[in-house]
Amino acid sequence: MKDFNDKVVYIVGGSSGIGLATAKALAAEGAHIIIFARGKDRLEQAIKEIRDKKISSSQRFSCMQVDVSIWDEVKAVMSKAVAEFGAPDVLINCAGRAYPRVFEEITYEQFDETMKINFYGIWHTTSALVPYMKQRGGYIVNVSSIAGFIGLFGYTDYSASKFAIIGFSEALRSELKRYGIRVSVLCPPDTDTPGFHEENKTKPEETKAISAGAKLRQPDEVAHALLEGMRKEEKYIIPGFDGKLIFLLKRLFPGLVEFVMDSTIKKVQAGKL
Ligand SMILES: NC(=O)c1ccc[n+]([C@@H]2O[C@H](COP(=O)([O-])OP(=O)(O)OC[C@H]3O[C@@H](n4cnc5c(N)ncnc54)[C@H](OP(=O)(O)O)[C@@H]3O)[C@@H](O)[C@H]2O)c1
Repeated sequence: MKDFNDKVVYIVGGSSGIGLATAKALAAEGAHIIIFARGKDRLEQAIKEIRDKKISSSQRFSCMQVDVSIWDEVKAVMSKAVAEFGAPDVLINCAGRAYPRVFEEITYEQFDETMKINFYGIWHTTSALVPYMKQRGGYIVNVSSIAGFIGLFGYTDYSASKFAIIGFSEALRSELKRYGIRVSVLCPPDTDTPGFHEENKTKPEETKAISAGAKLRQPDEVAHALLEGMRKEEKYIIPGFDGKLIFLLKRLFPGLVEFVMDSTIKKVQAGKL
């Protein structure tokens, strides 16, 4: 997708962080933007900020409340959105959250909620919208993470959900080509968002030490990389040099990556870091 002008873009999780930055970047390219999330106040504030970026008075902007973890709700809200704005040319599945903790502290309820929001959420929106999108093609971006290709200390539930997104997206990409629908996965590194600050409240020291050397990205840098990645139709869109390097190292030298992480973890546990 080279040009976003006049395209209908649905951004799930578009009221904050990476989703909001992406919505603003696309509004500045002339797209019509519909954002989805649970919280009404944040949605309304976000849509004002997004509208401020418009380049034409014909652009349309709206927000709708939905909890992506609830299938019946997603079906109803998405069919209402399609009736009002038409099928999306672009669907960006960005809703997600993390509560890092060691495995023994993660309850069944937390694991279940993580999978329902981060993974089932994407399954739900995609299932609700592909029947409409396949009539004229389009683009789907599913947001995973660096923790979607490296199982990270403190992220047994989150990494599981983010690995699942990559497997799902690869299979979906293969299936939807025949309808002219392209599928990419965005794997952001640590990014300075409200969600990231929330995540830091429970992050184990080992996890903090592992990511200490990596640069914290700004949401608009990630949004810029996402748009560039979509223009090139990249399968994996990985913003920043650090993330791309980790991706390559994990593929080529998985033992080395594990060795470096284990050494850091041991130092923290021995009180040397
Ligand atoms: N920030 C990072 O360092 C980082 C790194 C790698 C990957 N990611 C991924 O990037 C995505 C965005 O993260 P972010 O840091 O930008 O988070 P954020 O600032 O917390 O924004 C999350 C967005 O998702 C929405 N959301 C959460 N749960 C939802 C639900 N059940 N139903 C509908 N909407 C829901 C939130 O709105 P409501 O709460 O009002 O519903 C909000 O709009 C997530 O998938 C995250 O896992 C982030």
